[in-house]
Amino acid sequence: MKIVVLTGAGISAESGIPTFRASDGLWAGYDINDVATYDAWRKDKELVLQFYNERRQNAKQAAPNKGHLLLAELEKKHEVTVITQNVDDLHERAGSSKVVHLHGSLFEARSTLDERLVYDIEGDILIGDKCEKGSQLRPNIVWFGEAVPMIEKAAEITEEADIFLIVGTSMLVYPAAGLIHSTKQETPIIVVDPNKPDIGGVLGIHFIEEKASTGMLKAIEIIDQLSKN
Ligand code: APR
Repeated sequence: MKIVVLTGAGISAESGIPTFRASDGLWAGYDINDVATYDAWRKDKELVLQFYNERRQNAKQAAPNKGHLLLAELEKKHEVTVITQNVDDLHERAGSSKVVHLHGSLFEARSTLDERLVYDIEGDILIGDKCEKGSQLRPNIVWFGEAVPMIEKAAEITEEADIFLIVGTSMLVYPAAGLIHSTKQETPIIVVDPNKPDIGGVLGIHFIEEKASTGMLKAIEIIDQLSKN
């Protein structure tokens, strides 16, 4: 079976990485508008760099949780692609081999002049760190108000899904949330989230209202059942 999985911040919550919309629009104590928009970058580069440097350190200290590990294990029986909105690397570290990062990665920097110049990084990005063409480096993250270059590839992958599994996303941010409409009409959809996201206009969804760690066990039972039919 081809299983396509859309994940969001909720799958990393049990690894100690805070979700975005958990506390009144604050993200790890910051207002999203101050740190995750292109305007924020223009206004205060130092603050934006500091925010992502902290997120990178936080992600490095975190370990994949049972939700990530169960997803990676699905590859033993199925062809699995993970499309994640997360910028951490916990899916890869759990062993998932096909991961599409819709919103970029904390572990890449890119040129502000030439977006094709992308560099692997482990440490901080600082003011004055430059690309080979001499311009400031920024996190290779898709901010609010920016295009999502991977969305077309993600939509093509989703069209091929025999099962579409959604884990830990509020389904509020587009175009990622719109991927659900790229599934075939007959493709079963399973949602794992302790707070049922509002998914309008799509019928026949299997909702599992639990955390990723326990909810994934139930999702696997449903997948086993569906793959027998
Ligand atoms: N297991 C599964 N789901 C959980 C858990 C958990 N342990 N804890 C919380 N959740 C759910 C919440 O109920 C919520 O529906 O995870 C979801 C997190 O939603 P958001 O914080 O909105 O995160 P996400 O959907 O990934 O945000 C999308 O918005 O800020 C931007 O670019 C950023 O990629 C991000 C995008």
